[in-house]
Amino acid sequence: MGELDADADGRYGEAVFRPEQAGEGERIDFGALAYDDITMARLRALGVGPGWHCLGVGAGTGTVSRRLLEELGVASVLAVDRDVRFLTRRPGLDLVEADITAPGFAPGRFRLVHARFVLMHLPAYRRLIATLAELVEPGGVLVLSDAVDLTGDRTPGTPYRAAMRAMWQGLRATIGTDVTWVPSYPQLLRAAGLRRVGAELHVPPLLPGSPISRFWADTWERSRAAMVATGLVDDAAVDEAVRYLDSDECAALSAGMLTAWGQRP
Ligand SMILES: C[S@@+](CC[C@H](N)C(=O)[O-])C[C@H]1O[C@@H](n2cnc3c(N)ncnc32)[C@H](O)[C@@H]1O
Repeated sequence: MGELDADADGRYGEAVFRPEQAGEGERIDFGALAYDDITMARLRALGVGPGWHCLGVGAGTGTVSRRLLEELGVASVLAVDRDVRFLTRRPGLDLVEADITAPGFAPGRFRLVHARFVLMHLPAYRRLIATLAELVEPGGVLVLSDAVDLTGDRTPGTPYRAAMRAMWQGLRATIGTDVTWVPSYPQLLRAAGLRRVGAELHVPPLLPGSPISRFWADTWERSRAAMVATGLVDDAAVDEAVRYLDSDECAALSAGMLTAWGQRP
């Protein structure tokens, strides 16, 4: 299924992952703790540093925006999100509350445009990749990260696998989340006119109490209704999966983070 036939009518932050629901900022932070070091290493390797003006798309709690300023010494970051309650303005860091799918979203041109775990939730991802590529100034880079589901038909039937499969299917049905296209990022970035395209995959270990394990447990709690509605799991199965994640029994592969990048000619 592609973006034209996505049938979910809910939206991120409304049907699921509402920012006003207690703990949503902490959930985003668990994801950030699991992946920020990988993201920062890639941005550093791409040469991001002093003098760069950067756009953070769907910036969440702003951990990458802050680290761009503090660790890489960039000149400025404009952090955009549909809801900026978890972000704080500070020298070098400006905020815009905007829906990036809205027609006319045009915050300017930037040497770095970065979005992580945003486009996978937006059925218009193909158009948005083109839009974001347009926001990169010549010579600048677009860096996009999203999730890759590593459960498969031959993955052992653990409580974790059942919950993950129900989560992806439930999110797809309620808000249009789709990670099946994410491995196509390199080709999608080429098609958007970028060159020197590269991509890499990182899978954090699912250890009891780790940030990524806590991220999935929180994410299941927030998407529980959508998961149960798939008919693939019931409440008891979600509870069992949460317990499994936090136990020594847990033996599974987290979803990975695929990061793809390309330079604007
Ligand atoms: C899973 S969080 C990721 C946050 C951050 N990028 C990170 O990796 O830590 C997704 C973020 O995208 C934002 N978002 C979702 N849809 C959006 C839209 N249409 N326009 C702007 N922001 C959006 C959400 O509000 C949320 O902050």
